[in-house]
Amino acid sequence: MKHKKPNITEVVLRDGQQSLIATRMKTEDMLPILNKMDKVGFSSVEVWGGATYDCCLRFLDENPWERLKTFKKHFTKTPLQMLLRGKNLVGYKEYDNSVISLFIKNSISEGVNIFRIFDALNDINNINHSIQCVKKGKQNAQGTICYTTSPVHNEKYWLNLAKNIEDVGATSIAIKDMAGLLRPNTCYELIKKLKKNLKVPIHLHTHSTTGLSDATNFKAFEAGVDNIDTSISSFSNLYAHTATESLISMIYPDHENPFDMHLLTEISEYFNNVRKKYKKYEGSMRGVDVNMLTNQVPGGMLSILEKQLLDLNKSDKLRLLIDEIPKIRKDVGYVPLVTPSSQIVGAQALMNVLDNKRYQTLNKEFIDMVNGYYGEIPGDICPKLRKKIDKASSGHKENTNIQDVSFYKEEFKIFCDENNLKKLYKNDTDLLNFILFPKEAKDFYLLKNKSSLNDIIGLQEGFGLYVE
Ligand code: CO
Repeated sequence: MKHKKPNITEVVLRDGQQSLIATRMKTEDMLPILNKMDKVGFSSVEVWGGATYDCCLRFLDENPWERLKTFKKHFTKTPLQMLLRGKNLVGYKEYDNSVISLFIKNSISEGVNIFRIFDALNDINNINHSIQCVKKGKQNAQGTICYTTSPVHNEKYWLNLAKNIEDVGATSIAIKDMAGLLRPNTCYELIKKLKKNLKVPIHLHTHSTTGLSDATNFKAFEAGVDNIDTSISSFSNLYAHTATESLISMIYPDHENPFDMHLLTEISEYFNNVRKKYKKYEGSMRGVDVNMLTNQVPGGMLSILEKQLLDLNKSDKLRLLIDEIPKIRKDVGYVPLVTPSSQIVGAQALMNVLDNKRYQTLNKEFIDMVNGYYGEIPGDICPKLRKKIDKASSGHKENTNIQDVSFYKEEFKIFCDENNLKKLYKNDTDLLNFILFPKEAKDFYLLKNKSSLNDIIGLQEGFGLYVE
């Protein structure tokens, strides 16, 4: 039987380098190869997202908007894609709709065509406004299913969620399997059902961590998926994705292959050399980690937890920490582990292990998540934990400190006036840097040297476990 061939999205510039070298790749190391990448014929290139935005300001002394402009200049044919954390945009907390609108409006005018919009808890209320903004800007609003496995996450749950996402007006839907949990046959059945019940195109994004991704992507192809995400071979596998060239070779016989394999080899060799520069950011995993199928810790999360334990001189606790994560997940109603829930659960797991007692110290974000401030929890909260949370949160109110754009404008003006940076004030994208990463943006604009401590602790808000 002949199957329709899926389109291919190349992710090396965002998720590939995020998964393998902690998002540290500089724009100058991408620049020389962009024109060649534009010639391949990818349906899109994923270039931007929360972690790339954050790392540009925090570690690389780059303005993320300048990077986006550079991409737009070089990708003249290929649509640009970004990953958006719903109401959290590219950050870790909830923003007012006026901030969301401003962010999306500017992202569109600087060149983003496809917005993959997700919410860690799969709460549609957290992605709806972003979808509407992208549609208003006449671009592709891709709604997302954050895939996970649990007693509450069955096929009926996914179909229902996908249908709801389509109903609010998403242009396409992505299955986002950040931890590589989606098994080939489950994927086949799910995509068959989605194709049967929905009208919008279905995209698949899965990771290689558990060793399933090649087979899962192939089964998705057999089930008629519309688009598959891959990463160029020299930035593929391990915590990343199926290799672009491998997927192409799986689905096309040589004589029908529309892709220029020599061009892809050139691109891969280029990135192979770049990767050597960033050796110190590589994770320790070799081959695959099948334990992920039971403990559900996504690759990006694991590599950063490892580093945190190392910095705290507690590397011997890694096994305990890994075992603690699924236990917490069960206690909090089986939330999927992706930013920011992965940070929240990871940070709480670290507390539980360091304290040698579960939930003795409760992180504020953890309390907020259990209280539903991040969105609707998919399953039930463990009653014992519920009690502890109720006790800890008595007198503690939901964060109502969500400000609109005019509030930030005021603050930004003061900062600009005080520092003789009047030119900045006129620019929406500088304002957005200031809103989304106030400390990092100030440092960036004031050209201060970054504190090396930042590099150790990672993100101040939520421990810095990028998982997308
Ligand atoms: Co990913």
